[in-house]
Amino acid sequence: MSGMLEKEVPADDGGGLLAQVAPPVLVVDGLIVEHRNGTTGEAFRAVDGVSLRVAAGESTAVVGESGSGKTTLAMAATGLGPRSGGRVELLGHALDGLSRRRLRDLRPEVQIVFQDPHGSLDGRQSVRSGLRELRRLQRERTAWIDDAALLERVRLSPDLLDRYPHQLSGGQAQRVCIARALLMRPRLIVADEPTSGLDVSVQADVLDLLREVRETTGAALLMISHDLAVVRSVCETVHVMRRGRVVESGPCETVFTDSADAYTRELIAAMPGARWRARR
Ligand SMILES: Nc1ncnc2c1ncn2[C@@H]1O[C@H](COP(=O)(O)OP(=O)(O)OP(=O)(O)O)[C@@H](O)[C@H]1O
Ligand SMILES: [Mg+2]
Repeated sequence: MSGMLEKEVPADDGGGLLAQVAPPVLVVDGLIVEHRNGTTGEAFRAVDGVSLRVAAGESTAVVGESGSGKTTLAMAATGLGPRSGGRVELLGHALDGLSRRRLRDLRPEVQIVFQDPHGSLDGRQSVRSGLRELRRLQRERTAWIDDAALLERVRLSPDLLDRYPHQLSGGQAQRVCIARALLMRPRLIVADEPTSGLDVSVQADVLDLLREVRETTGAALLMISHDLAVVRSVCETVHVMRRGRVVESGPCETVFTDSADAYTRELIAAMPGARWRARR
């Protein structure tokens, strides 16, 4: 593909043309992560030979029962967690052989949104001073928007800038986390159960926001979730994990409505949102 064509693709393409011409933002090939069992001390594979790729601008989900290795996969795939084997290519760079410095340079382009927003924010910093610190670390990258406009982008009042995390509701705190991610203009956002710690009433708003961020910035999204309705509302493709392995992958519509795999069918039946699916 010619370089010229790549440049002509708009940044807010939202995953269509961009996904076809730009290199994938994440390639995971035969990834293995071993942990030690806390009781027996024996090593076991929490991630056992997982391969997947996330195209530029694409929205992909990883689902699976608790303990199936989703978070371990996400951490290893973003270079934040240990890897025991296999290959990861993040934003076109193989993590093996990447210097610490180069990895640090890539860091802002990969943003992670966790389940517990209060746990992700520094309780001693107001929203404004937290943003100031990010701006100090990444002066040029963050100059595109001011604090008030950034908060407006995540539909928060700029009045909240002087609040501390404990003075924010769960939904507001998660919006602040998303704003902090957005400030870095990431090419990949990894969201690990971003709404499961929130009240049902604000879950849909936060999902809408993630969808909007993705559509307007062209960032790819790798979302980990237990909730079928969440996955279907935000993601195009899904990977189903069981005991450290991906047992099925494909477009959400196919996997959720027409799975050939017995485990996937069982998992889907047990997931929140399954009744929502049945009613439609
Ligand atoms: N640091 C660690 N040391 C030892 N074992 C770990 C560690 N982190 C995770 N594990 C184990 O690895 C397996 C996968 O854990 P992981 O957190 O990746 O699962 P998960 O799919 O994200 O689960 P959940 O849906 O509950 O968040 C589990 O058996 C877990 O107990
Ligand atoms: Mg997890």
